[in-house]
Amino acid sequence: MITLIATTKYGLEVIVKTELRQLGFDDINVQPGRVEFTATLADIPRVNLWLRCADRVRIKVGEFKATTFDELFEQTKALAWEAWIPADGRFDVRGRSVKSELFSVRSCQAIVKKATAERLLAAHEVDELPEISADYTIEVSLLRDVALLTIDTSGAGLHKRGYREEAGEAPLKETFAAGLVLLSFWNKERRLIDPMCGSGTILIEAALIARNIAPGLKRSFASEAWPQIGTDLWQEARRDAANARKKRKGKIKLFGYDNDGQVIKLARRNASKAGVERDITFEQKEVTDLWIDQEHGVVITNPPYGVRMSDFREINQIYIALNKMFRKKWGWSVYVLTADEKFPDYFKRAEPDRVRKLYNGTLKTNYYQYHGEKPQ
Ligand SMILES: C[S@@+](CC[C@H](N)C(=O)[O-])C[C@H]1O[C@@H](n2cnc3c(N)ncnc32)[C@H](O)[C@@H]1O
Repeated sequence: MITLIATTKYGLEVIVKTELRQLGFDDINVQPGRVEFTATLADIPRVNLWLRCADRVRIKVGEFKATTFDELFEQTKALAWEAWIPADGRFDVRGRSVKSELFSVRSCQAIVKKATAERLLAAHEVDELPEISADYTIEVSLLRDVALLTIDTSGAGLHKRGYREEAGEAPLKETFAAGLVLLSFWNKERRLIDPMCGSGTILIEAALIARNIAPGLKRSFASEAWPQIGTDLWQEARRDAANARKKRKGKIKLFGYDNDGQVIKLARRNASKAGVERDITFEQKEVTDLWIDQEHGVVITNPPYGVRMSDFREINQIYIALNKMFRKKWGWSVYVLTADEKFPDYFKRAEPDRVRKLYNGTLKTNYYQYHGEKPQ
């Protein structure tokens, strides 16, 4: 058995835990920004292909207290790196340090690199490490003097699904957009609209969920080239993921609007690359012109938030429009992600049922949740 760590944005750990449960894991330990779980080698392809909200998946190689460079060196050298990195494996060390005696990240990286190289030379019984085969990225992460040593299995961050080469203004990361959908009460039988959809990320992620499409199917991963896992396990996981796609009859009700025509074209192209263009209707529309007839549905959106004074009037108009639209629509659940703490003053249907703090990159945002009545 091995220990894997799914790293995640602060606030989305609970969703990653639920995703891992659904994938069949039960030994799960949640900490801020990371979810640890016990797994097997065969799980590495599976979790990389399927996790929708995690940033990346790392193998935990060791964790120990270190307040001196000697301690860091000796304990790193004591870890079984040879189980992962072959004699000709190319490896690189990244680092970070928070509230720790060993605060020089560059020195920590150099020490870990040296200790790992010494270990590999001795364990593989070789005189040199030619670094010609697959890539391995080690991370040394110090938090309050505890060093966590991991190897990354994902390569590019898991938000890179391969469907969004172009992005509109302030796009949400795909992993974050999937988190907003999974934190909501939306399910595939329900109508979902994003009245300011930008490049369409929220709706595309919802369509992938509705069709049970593995978010990683269209990309590659660092550990695909590792001899320890081998192509068979990867091929099997990819085949299973491809077969899991649901060919549902009937339409999925996903609608995206934006007042920027170029951005709507972009959203359509992205949906097409993701293979869900038939599931989402995109239309250029001012939010002030949008009217909704249906009694039930879900809105998930992240409106622009102003930094310049000139933006404020526009944003007020958006808030007033949303308030008008949903004031009496008690059958609609409304979810709004914004850094603007004034939003609830304008959306007067009720107090939010829940406000979740989420970090969109380094920006602190609130996810305002107004629950609607359940459909009969
Ligand atoms: C923060 S971005 C949304 C990003 C989107 N979630 C994504 O992932 O790409 C806000 C969007 O609101 C749109 N927008 C701004 N004012 C609008 C208005 N009055 N009516 C409709 N859309 C508007 C902008 O064109 C922009 O695409």
